[in-house]
Amino acid sequence: MPQPQKYGSRLAGKVAVVTGAGAEGSQVGIGRAIALVLAGEGARVCCSDIDLARAEETALRINREGGDAFAFGGDVSDGKACARLVSETVARFGRLDVLVNNVGISTPTTLESIDDAAWSRIFDINLKSAMLMSKYSIPEMTKTGGGSIMNISSIAGIGALGSLAYGTSKAAMAQLAREIAVMHGRDGIRANTVAPGHLMTPHAMHVLPADMRETRRKIGPLGLEGDAWDVALAVCFLASDEARFITGVELPVDGGVTAIGPMAAHALIMRAD
Ligand SMILES: NC(=O)c1ccc[n+]([C@@H]2O[C@H](COP(=O)([O-])OP(=O)(O)OC[C@H]3O[C@@H](n4cnc5c(N)ncnc54)[C@H](O)[C@@H]3O)[C@@H](O)[C@H]2O)c1
Repeated sequence: MPQPQKYGSRLAGKVAVVTGAGAEGSQVGIGRAIALVLAGEGARVCCSDIDLARAEETALRINREGGDAFAFGGDVSDGKACARLVSETVARFGRLDVLVNNVGISTPTTLESIDDAAWSRIFDINLKSAMLMSKYSIPEMTKTGGGSIMNISSIAGIGALGSLAYGTSKAAMAQLAREIAVMHGRDGIRANTVAPGHLMTPHAMHVLPADMRETRRKIGPLGLEGDAWDVALAVCFLASDEARFITGVELPVDGGVTAIGPMAAHALIMRAD
């Protein structure tokens, strides 16, 4: 799907933070797509990434397209960086309404290959970052009546795909969102999870062999692969007031692949198309 061209003002007046909002060069990863779509719908956006140049490229694109964004460089597995990210956003834009915990790393791991340090690194970056960002964002959100938090997990956190630490950390992100949804519902906070899968993104292009890509396409009920824009549009809906009654859910954006049973998947693979 090309970048959506028609935007409205569904997020006018809102301020958003997107973590991992950078991408290499002009590529569009999930975080960059989310930042562009939220800005296209009128949100002012803090584009944050550990790689400042990548975040700056995203902010530049938004500002060139008439939006209002700035870049923040920092490691969101570090609590001090998270606190600074939130306070700089509020200093700049005066409020915070939307938090997208998009940062994630997906090193393949097994029980044989994993060690303490590798496990902690994956959990710190994928899960602790989402907890820390939520911890510092919620007090700011509640000052203006609430907000929307979205964790970007993966279908690897719904069914086991063979990546021990990644899948386990992604499953925990959905539980983190449910806990926050229940603890802070009365503060006007909604917390949801978006679980992407079967996408063609710059990262997937890098790691996925061509034959696997074709099998993956066949196994999905829609027979398609998605892209970063599909995820961004789902996030945009959950961020908006249109989703005011939706909290604590995990929404797969995966062409239906988490809905299919093993025999039906086998039958799809056997089809000629
Ligand atoms: N790409 C896919 O097909 C896919 C599928 C399912 C889930 N996801 C999830 O979606 C999210 C985004 O995926 P992507 O492929 O677009 O990612 P990506 O690797 O292309 O981009 C992630 C960005 O996060 C930044 N980053 C990494 N560690 C950071 C840290 N500690 N602090 C701040 N920034 C940091 C990187 O510099 C990078 O710019 C991830 O959570 C990933 O697990 C992706």
